[in-house]
Amino acid sequence: MNFQSFLPIVKEFIRALGNRRTYSIRNNCYFIFGVLWGIPVPIVTSGMCLYHRNLVFSLSNIAGEFLVHPIQFFFLLHPLLFGIVFGAMGTVRDEKEKQRLDFQNSLVILNKELKEKNNALQELDKLKDDFLTMVSHELWSPLTTVKGYVSLLKEKKVGELTQKQKDILTITEEQIEHLDRLIADLIDISEIEAGKLKIVPECLDVNKVVEKTIGSLSQRALEKNITLENRLSPQLPYIWADSRRITQVFTNILGNAIKFTPDNRKVSIDARVMADSIEFSIEDSGIGIPQAQLANIFEKFYQVDSAAKRRYGGCGLGLGIAKSIIELHQGRIWIESKVNEGSKFFFEIRKCRKKNIEGKQDCLLSSLTQA
Ligand SMILES: Nc1ncnc2c1ncn2[C@@H]1O[C@H](COP(=O)(O)OP(=O)(O)OP(=O)(O)O)[C@@H](O)[C@H]1O
Ligand SMILES: [Mg+2]
Repeated sequence: MNFQSFLPIVKEFIRALGNRRTYSIRNNCYFIFGVLWGIPVPIVTSGMCLYHRNLVFSLSNIAGEFLVHPIQFFFLLHPLLFGIVFGAMGTVRDEKEKQRLDFQNSLVILNKELKEKNNALQELDKLKDDFLTMVSHELWSPLTTVKGYVSLLKEKKVGELTQKQKDILTITEEQIEHLDRLIADLIDISEIEAGKLKIVPECLDVNKVVEKTIGSLSQRALEKNITLENRLSPQLPYIWADSRRITQVFTNILGNAIKFTPDNRKVSIDARVMADSIEFSIEDSGIGIPQAQLANIFEKFYQVDSAAKRRYGGCGLGLGIAKSIIELHQGRIWIESKVNEGSKFFFEIRKCRKKNIEGKQDCLLSSLTQA
């Protein structure tokens, strides 16, 4: 023990000496304990002196001893001194115990408050999920009706259309499609939150999935003069995945790559065959994502560009949905990115295996030859 840690103890001890509690027989049993501990001291010392002087242990001899050796008065004070020292230590101990109990009680109160706040948050979260489910489903039916009426108009079932009316209908259709995608995302996210999103995996030719995705996004790429480079080998083994959901993952990631890449650049898709899985990568040369935000981009409603700016549109749902879908396939998804240089998204999906394809004639041959 060094002097620095000893000093506070001495200070506390001196402070306790000034506390009335230290000397209280009623409130401080340490004081009584000290007195009892000190009583043998004058008895033993005076007894030893009498023994050395060959005198018997009697009151008169003891009184004489006190006159001959006045130091005996000091020993006589020992029960009191011990009482004070023990009493002061008792005061310090009781104060510390009180502080500990106060701290413990405050922790209990804080813990209770935290639990209440947590429950309230969970209730709010559930309310928000229920609201999300309700709103998305409620939006779905009127949109389906609007869609129906627009196709009636386009198919000229209610009469001929002027060019201007056709143009207006085309814009309306685009907006409906946009709304349709948004509602579908909201329904997906509410199902993910409720743990209700299910996948139906099968042996899939991923080349077909990627071609389909590129086809559906080619118009968007064309508008920005972005080249979509498909580097997948035609001999790629089949994957064990839900066709609709894995198409959604490719669409979300590739869609982002096009959205966040400036005009006249390139986006490429590649794959690496591993022992049990295939690692896909989608690389762009776009705006990139700051390192500090990489961990958040898979959270729902998270967007790097602040909601206030809204330069690129969207709701921040695509990557959250993609991550959940990949995880439902027992795969993983991650990203590497540098601001102003570009981003590279990776995800891993299991290969189709013999045990996956029992009874599935259609994918049996191709996967056995390719795996
Ligand atoms: N390739 C990319 N380059 C740069 N930033 C990206 C890229 N992909 C995603 N991000 C960032 O991650 C955020 C979340 O992406 P996510 O796909 O979840 O949402 P979104 O595209 O904004 O909206 P939504 O997908 O719902 O239409 C984006 O808003 C963007 O800030
Ligand atoms: Mg997106």
